[in-house]
Amino acid sequence: MKADPLQRVFRTFSDPTRIRILALLEREELAVQEIMEVLGMAQSRVSRHLAILREAGLLADRRDGTFVFYRFVPPREAPWRDTWALVIENLRGDATAERDAAALARVMESRSERTRSFFESVGPEWDALRKVFNDDALRARAVSRLLGPNLVVADIGTGTGILAIELARLGVRVVAVDHSPRMIDAARSKAAAEPDLQIEFRHGEASALPLSDGETDAALAHMVLHYLPSPSDAIAEMARVVKPGGTVVAVDFVPHQHEWMREELGVSWLGFSAEEVAGWFLATGLIDFRLEEHEGLASSRDLPATFIASGRRPS
Ligand SMILES: C[S@@+](CC[C@H](N)C(=O)[O-])C[C@H]1O[C@@H](n2cnc3c(N)ncnc32)[C@H](O)[C@@H]1O
Repeated sequence: MKADPLQRVFRTFSDPTRIRILALLEREELAVQEIMEVLGMAQSRVSRHLAILREAGLLADRRDGTFVFYRFVPPREAPWRDTWALVIENLRGDATAERDAAALARVMESRSERTRSFFESVGPEWDALRKVFNDDALRARAVSRLLGPNLVVADIGTGTGILAIELARLGVRVVAVDHSPRMIDAARSKAAAEPDLQIEFRHGEASALPLSDGETDAALAHMVLHYLPSPSDAIAEMARVVKPGGTVVAVDFVPHQHEWMREELGVSWLGFSAEEVAGWFLATGLIDFRLEEHEGLASSRDLPATFIASGRRPS
């Protein structure tokens, strides 16, 4: 090995401050101010050492707005790599290195404290602040990673396609069924605004779904059962079109006395009891039946409570 490169290695590692800086940056990426804080040194001194270390190829920097962060670049070539290994070995149990490590922990804690105190001061107002991110679509895409790829869901009685579009935004492939061509047209034109969504519209009856056996992973009927001549037939059809292991979900009203709904909303049934719904699910062979009731939706008309019922086709 030539003497010159070796001298450079030794010169670089000969200064204890440079060793302290490297040891810190090996643990964390730090801004100059943070390094100054840990070492208790002025900026000019710290910057001079950083320049030497960067020149030696032992550091890389990264700009983050007005801050510059430094990190350690582990040396790969023999004299640098081996000498650094020797230095580190000798730092074990060193009192200054231990003090630096403790000061570094305080710097990291103050980073976290800054964030914590920000959110402590903001609290529930975060929802107003976050609006600048306009991240609804982003969140939907992130949630879609939790779902298996190529998930297919049937939305029975899709109406204007609200749920179908929500599901498709999650990356789900949706088969949206309705017996009203006008509702399908409305849903189709709404979905046309987002051409990437995978929604297939099919015209058909809930009691004879235009889907083959086991075609979907799940089937959902949201506020549809109370319009159907035979809700139990629809549940049986939904059970037929899901794969073994697939899920059937129905959302509807619990029994209520809102007669005005027949006239004004065209409903056929004033809600269903949990026993009735359980009977339909179990009669068609669905298992793991669950039903939960929810308070009436906020409205000037004091709407009835709702339920979400689900069951699974045996695997
Ligand atoms: C209250 S809307 C619900 C729409 C949608 N599921 C939602 O939650 O926004 C009821 C929908 O069910 C459809 N529907 C009613 N009876 C049906 C039947 N027998 N077969 C298929 N669809 C039906 C209607 O055309 C209507 O679009």
